[in-house]
Amino acid sequence: MKLSTLLHLLPFALASTPPSPGLSYFGQATISVSAPFPIGPGPFGNRNIFPIAGGTFTGPLFNATIPAFGGDWGLGDPNLGNFYIDARYQLHTTNGADIYVEANGPQQPDGVLHTRVRFEAGTDKGYGWLNGIVSVGIVTPALGEEGEVAGIEIELWRLESPVVEGKGEGKGKETAGGDRW
Ligand SMILES: *[C@@H]1O[C@H](CO)[C@@H](O)[C@H](O)[C@H]1NC(C)=O
Repeated sequence: MKLSTLLHLLPFALASTPPSPGLSYFGQATISVSAPFPIGPGPFGNRNIFPIAGGTFTGPLFNATIPAFGGDWGLGDPNLGNFYIDARYQLHTTNGADIYVEANGPQQPDGVLHTRVRFEAGTDKGYGWLNGIVSVGIVTPALGEEGEVAGIEIELWRLESPVVEGKGEGKGKETAGGDRW
């Protein structure tokens, strides 16, 4: 290729969109909550604390129960009028590992709740790789008989590296089995 052609193509190359990262399905959490503690409007917004009453996590890599300890210290944002998740809870895997979960995130203008989920696992039971993943979730409230929030469902996704042409698959997949971390 002539240099002049190359220079002509350069601005296009610089302006093009970078390769998209992927999202792989990570699992689904089904959580029931008991009646909230309505703290009410305060300095940070309208806080409603929902205690977690229990739940399950089912995923392609592991399954777990969610013990009745933890909650969502959710906040109604006084400026935007939306709800903001602020949850902490645990997963107890079928092979006995306890994993700490922190999740937070804003309700979108279309009403859907988006969350960022951070896992904290000990490295002694084969789940240390959870410390190294970046995960997001879509949260759907489950309503009870009187229209109250009785629980939530979270579909969880894990960020995968972009596939760069000529370099094969992103590195993220190698960590899925749990050996690398
Ligand atoms: C998780 O549970 C589901 C449903 O019981 C089962 O089909 C699946 O094989 C389990 N997954 C793992 C990784 O054990």
